[in-house]
Amino acid sequence: MLEVKDITFNVKGTQILNGISFQVAQGETVGIIGPNGSGKTTLFNCLSGFNIPNGGSITLKGHEVTVLPPYKRAALGLGRVFQNFGIFREMTCTENVVTALESRQPMWDSFFPWSKGNKTNRARALEFLKEVHLEKSCDKRASSLSGGQMRLLEIIRTLAFEAEVFLLDEPTAGVSPKMKEDVAGLIRRLKELGKTVLVIEHDINFIQKFCSRIIVLDIGRIVLDDTPDKVRQHSLLQEIYFGSTSGNGS
Ligand SMILES: Nc1ncnc2c1ncn2[C@@H]1O[C@H](COP(=O)(O)OP(=O)(O)OP(=O)(O)O)[C@@H](O)[C@H]1O
Ligand SMILES: [Mg+2]
Repeated sequence: MLEVKDITFNVKGTQILNGISFQVAQGETVGIIGPNGSGKTTLFNCLSGFNIPNGGSITLKGHEVTVLPPYKRAALGLGRVFQNFGIFREMTCTENVVTALESRQPMWDSFFPWSKGNKTNRARALEFLKEVHLEKSCDKRASSLSGGQMRLLEIIRTLAFEAEVFLLDEPTAGVSPKMKEDVAGLIRRLKELGKTVLVIEHDINFIQKFCSRIIVLDIGRIVLDDTPDKVRQHSLLQEIYFGSTSGNGS
């Protein structure tokens, strides 16, 4: 589904990514962890087209996309979820989802207010909102939602956009423990739907609930790529987070 081969990315002579290679199969849920500044977000920027790598290649569903602009990658099924930047705050929750549905349809389907597409899109949007328990807030402006609810809305909007590969950058940063569980539930749901998910998180205990594989980045390189259990037990994890191989690191 996604193949990354030896990508490098430099800014003003500083190497931020240094020969990153990995493959992700369809339906896999992969966690990406690493210390602050290790290059996780930069990697997502390269995958989604906001950064163009200086070397290497990125292939999505068999198409080489290394230098394609973000919108062309999105059309191929790549869904980058930003931290609430992808939400139209002045629109209602329903309208947010409807715009995603419309963007995948011919314009004429919903061009006039009385077009049949408008009615069916609203009904479909409600189904999407139900998945994240936002149906009661369907007519509320997105700006009135909590930070965690906005994040759920953004992910579900990306699903309505028919994304196949989801890039989630710290989807639970700053959200309540209850909402964190909702985000975990939604990621499991994406997995059930056969979606491919890459999720950046700092909390390894949290991501191992839904990831079958964890990639660890350090100083722009992949240092571990294994099952959550193997990664947790690896001495390198202690070393890069705590600077030593001793200590329990919990
Ligand atoms: N456009 C840029 N210009 C200059 N430096 C950059 C740029 N993009 C990234 N960097 C630098 O690259 C390094 C990696 O940044 P990145 O945001 O990818 O890290 P991260 O692993 O996502 O960190 P965090 O866990 O804090 O989110 C940092 O040192 C950052 O300052
Ligand atoms: Mg980051």
